[in-house]
Amino acid sequence: MKTFEQITALERRYLLGTYNRYPVALTRGKGVFLYDLEGRRYLDFVSGLGVNALGHAHPRIVKTIREQAAKLIHVSNLYYHEYQGALAEKLCTLAGGSSSDLSAGTSSIGPSMGTCRGFFSNSGTEAIEGSIKLARLAGHRAGGEGKCGLVALQGSYHGRTFGALSLTGQDKHRKGFEPLLEEVTFVAQNDIEGLRAAVNDNTCAIVLEPIFGEGGIYECSVEFLQECRTLADRFRAALIFDEIQCGLGRTGTMFAFQTFGVAPDIVAIAKLLAAGLPLGAFIAKEEFANAIAPGQHGTTFGGGPLACRVALEFLSIVEEEKLLDNVNKVGAYLQQELRAIAEKSPVAKEVRGRGFIQGINLEIPARPIVDEALGEGVLFNSTQDTVVRFLPPFLLEEKHVDKGMRVLKKLLRKKRKEAA
Ligand SMILES: Cc1ncc(COP(=O)(O)O)c(C=O)c1O
Repeated sequence: MKTFEQITALERRYLLGTYNRYPVALTRGKGVFLYDLEGRRYLDFVSGLGVNALGHAHPRIVKTIREQAAKLIHVSNLYYHEYQGALAEKLCTLAGGSSSDLSAGTSSIGPSMGTCRGFFSNSGTEAIEGSIKLARLAGHRAGGEGKCGLVALQGSYHGRTFGALSLTGQDKHRKGFEPLLEEVTFVAQNDIEGLRAAVNDNTCAIVLEPIFGEGGIYECSVEFLQECRTLADRFRAALIFDEIQCGLGRTGTMFAFQTFGVAPDIVAIAKLLAAGLPLGAFIAKEEFANAIAPGQHGTTFGGGPLACRVALEFLSIVEEEKLLDNVNKVGAYLQQELRAIAEKSPVAKEVRGRGFIQGINLEIPARPIVDEALGEGVLFNSTQDTVVRFLPPFLLEEKHVDKGMRVLKKLLRKKRKEAA
């Protein structure tokens, strides 16, 4: 096995310098724990940036991958296989079914997207690209070539390809890559007047994350989302929710829109979907889905048999093990503990988010806390300089929260003393 120094030297020599990694090399995982080269154990509050909802090496996922890999990994979208349609049916039922259609453990408490159809990609970014391509087609059909405008939110994050980057409302990601798509108007999150001023007959889509993930865990208000819905209907634009980070159970319902009570026309998902294998999707209401024709969009890898079968297994496990109940219960506990810290610690400001997508905003840089938590056997993550973000696996228990909070408190005390 290579040493840590050998691993980092190879990367420095042969990889583009795009990542600012934490100083640890991980070799294996089990449940909510990861292990490094020396066998040191880490409690995981990151889950591969919001991916590994079932933790690591979940026996049913391992078994499914083994079985399917021995049968068929990839066939291309030239051919049929049995899992892509089945996964689309499942997701469309979860997004579009009434509560009574849904089995226990994933019950919907929100509105429904009605009849829908989906498309599978390899990543979240591609799910966004596909969503805006579909919205453009539907827009052109409804209002001609001029109906191509996109409305997005300042502070948002939608990915790094040119389309997704054009919707991303953060200069630090856009800088150096201009010119991007010109037809994007940015509105501040929850600014209803600004939204009204931005949406018009030329708008083909309003695109937003119900909860900003990379942007620092900020929630859209229900009133703002309702106004988005009203304006999208009035101007025959698509309301697109990017639930790549906040969807598929993190808010305690299968889709975040069910938590907020406002249904989009198109919802983009990825991250958790195939338990760590690359798979994204967008699900569109029928009136948008039917705007696309054969040959207008596609992908080599997206929706392959291995990823789709694993995704079906992931969704079954979430249902059968009632994991969303755990997200709600342990998420509430996490919030209570974080709030207690925010009240007591002079360097902690505010707790935001819900369920298993939460963040604590600090008065001090968050990255040193994350770095030092490694030494305490805990993986945290930081975003927007001052936010410690929590995207834990759905298997997290209250005793794990206790361990994480002990470490967080200790490090906040230490940093405060150092600053004094
Ligand atoms: C809200 C949101 N949209 C889009 C993306 C891009 O997804 P991916 O990195 O899978 O391309 C991310 C990734 O973090 C995200 O959080």
